[in-house]
Amino acid sequence: MLTEAITLYQQRVDNLLRLSIDAQDDTEPKLKAAMEHGALIGGKRIRPFLVYAVGEMLNVPPEHLDSCAAAVECIHAYSLIHDDLPAMDDDALRRGKPTVHIAFDEATAILAGDALQTLAFEIISQETTALSPTQQLLMVRSLANASGYHGMCGGQAMDLNATNKPIDLDTLKRLHKLKTGALIRCAVELPIIAAGVTDIERALLLDFADAVGLAFQVQDDVLDIIASTEELGKPQGSDCESNKSTYPKLLGLEGAQETAKSLIDDALSALAKLPYNSQLIAEFARFIIERRV
Ligand code: IPE
Ligand code: IPE
Ligand code: MG
Ligand code: MG
Ligand code: MG
Repeated sequence: MLTEAITLYQQRVDNLLRLSIDAQDDTEPKLKAAMEHGALIGGKRIRPFLVYAVGEMLNVPPEHLDSCAAAVECIHAYSLIHDDLPAMDDDALRRGKPTVHIAFDEATAILAGDALQTLAFEIISQETTALSPTQQLLMVRSLANASGYHGMCGGQAMDLNATNKPIDLDTLKRLHKLKTGALIRCAVELPIIAAGVTDIERALLLDFADAVGLAFQVQDDVLDIIASTEELGKPQGSDCESNKSTYPKLLGLEGAQETAKSLIDDALSALAKLPYNSQLIAEFARFIIERRV
């Protein structure tokens, strides 16, 4: 059930992303090609999956969430393009292909990231009758908060500051929650805004999102050690080579794996308290720590 749903929503968001990028005119073909390279080749599309799957659980039709799903993925693609730059993680492989600054050049990679970021806001603010203007405004704000100083960018800054330097577990937890957790939380918050739920349900769903978001980055740290470059499509051992602060570095490999598992237990117990059929997203939560990619 999970595999089929992941494939279905992957294809759905891939079509939308392709249409959105294709719709840009051809005055800057190199920039456009770099955006395509960074956004359209591969990727698990787990953030769009969460948008749609949480929507499905809350009875929001996927047509109402298409722009949210595509916008979240545009922000994610931009964050990866910049994350791989020489000034950041300096990685040459992503999704089994050369990273954008290798396939093109650094300046084009910076601009492709910038343009995907603004494309996200173009898409999410598109006129629609499916959502009220207030809902759309709340969505724009959620995406902006998750992406900026108090979200992904702030987390990436903490990540750079924590390179070649030991930090404590609380600081690492905050770092991971920002750099990766914030956008995953947003992917859950967007369908909540579309659906309208009680305050209690909202809190439980966001507890689920926070636990899954942190577990996702802990597993990413684990995979940097246990998976191969071929499996990952990105360079194995990149964190160790750059002396990054990661969960395995602080807790050991087994400690990190246990932490990820207990975070998923927390996520599942939040779901169990909800009066919805949460089978699909529960399966997804388990997949987060079973994945090898
Ligand atoms: C990788 O994200 C970077 C992190 C935030 C951990 P994903 O593992 O979702 O990467 P893709 O999109 O599937 O390539
Ligand atoms: C990236 O974390 C988080 C982002 C905001 C892009 P990583 O640097 O660990 O992601 P990978 O391992 O390169 O995909
Ligand atoms: Mg990084
Ligand atoms: Mg990286
Ligand atoms: Mg990583």
